[in-house]
Amino acid sequence: MLAVLEEQLAAAQRSLPAPVYEYYAAGAGEETTLAESARAWSAFRLRPRPLRDVSAVDLTTTLLGAPLEAPLLVAPMAFHRLAHEEAEAATARGTREAGGLMVVSTRASLAVEDIGAVAGPWWFQVYVMKDRDITARLVERAAASGAQALVLTGDTPYVGVKRKVGGVRIDMPEDHFLVNLRRHLGDRVDGAAAAAQDPSVDLGAVEWLRRLTGLPVVVKGVLRGDAAQECLDAGAAGVVVSNHGGRQLDRAVPSALALAEVVDAVAGRAPVLVDGGVRSGLDALVALALGASGVLVGRPVLWALAHGGADGVRAALAAVRDDLAHALALCGAASLAELDRSFVVPAAAPVP
Ligand code: FNR
Repeated sequence: MLAVLEEQLAAAQRSLPAPVYEYYAAGAGEETTLAESARAWSAFRLRPRPLRDVSAVDLTTTLLGAPLEAPLLVAPMAFHRLAHEEAEAATARGTREAGGLMVVSTRASLAVEDIGAVAGPWWFQVYVMKDRDITARLVERAAASGAQALVLTGDTPYVGVKRKVGGVRIDMPEDHFLVNLRRHLGDRVDGAAAAAQDPSVDLGAVEWLRRLTGLPVVVKGVLRGDAAQECLDAGAAGVVVSNHGGRQLDRAVPSALALAEVVDAVAGRAPVLVDGGVRSGLDALVALALGASGVLVGRPVLWALAHGGADGVRAALAAVRDDLAHALALCGAASLAELDRSFVVPAAAPVP
């Protein structure tokens, strides 16, 4: 993990209320997937090329039409208000200043209109809720507020059970939980139930969302090549290789180990993004060399937000971006376009 991210993590751990820290940090079950996901990026070694002109390194890229200074995205995460009073607005500003793209969660703790007003390029993450109507209204508002794509999360028919979180109560007013939904609920008292994820959601949701907004739909939570093909056949414009940061199915395969299979199955038809345990530019470099078009960073952004608001988020993403540029140069590549699988090799058995 990069030193800057380590410092921000330590500071957040000191300042956040323990239940909030645990809620953010936790993984599902025995946290096998959580632990392995971060380590799995080091299961690869790099094969640098000597004597290339790397006096200027270009990290710019375009994702579904959005020009970015670097292939870095902020993963959709619920309730930024628990970390900082400026909530998702601070994350959006920091992400924009670092030249990245923010994915805003359905469970955001600030109205999508207020996030869209300060964000650079951003996408909206969709949980299809039991009440399809409130899902549709929310998605339409996100589109009207400037979201340039939808990210349909496919790995959360039920919320993963996190042991550490089970026993503690997070002090969050219902208004924050339902900030984006309240106005669509009318006088219903069962707001939380209507807003719960619908476990009957299937691939048909891709086309439903596409027709609703005209926006491209990216499916998040893909860990198999055949599943990626199904998503594209159903109309998806891209996929995110993800195990939800180890928060859903414990013992799910680490994204780093699933990525190549998905890239091969997609075969250039659409961008493949990836998240889970990305903590440095080196991690990102491995992902990009394996064929990812971009990487999403999750928890480190929350630690940065808690520690330093928008400035903290900008610093965290800039640190990963600068580390990526440095690593790319040392690999003898001057741009992302030069990266391919020839730059990575599986690590040998641990050196004794
Ligand atoms: C998440 N994640 C998530 N994903 C999603 O699609 N919708 C959501 O609302 C949330 N909420 C959420 C909350 C918190 C506290 C965390 C830590 C994660 C998953 C997230 O988008 C991403 O897949 C992982 O966090 C990436 O792994 P790292 O970088 O945290 O290891």
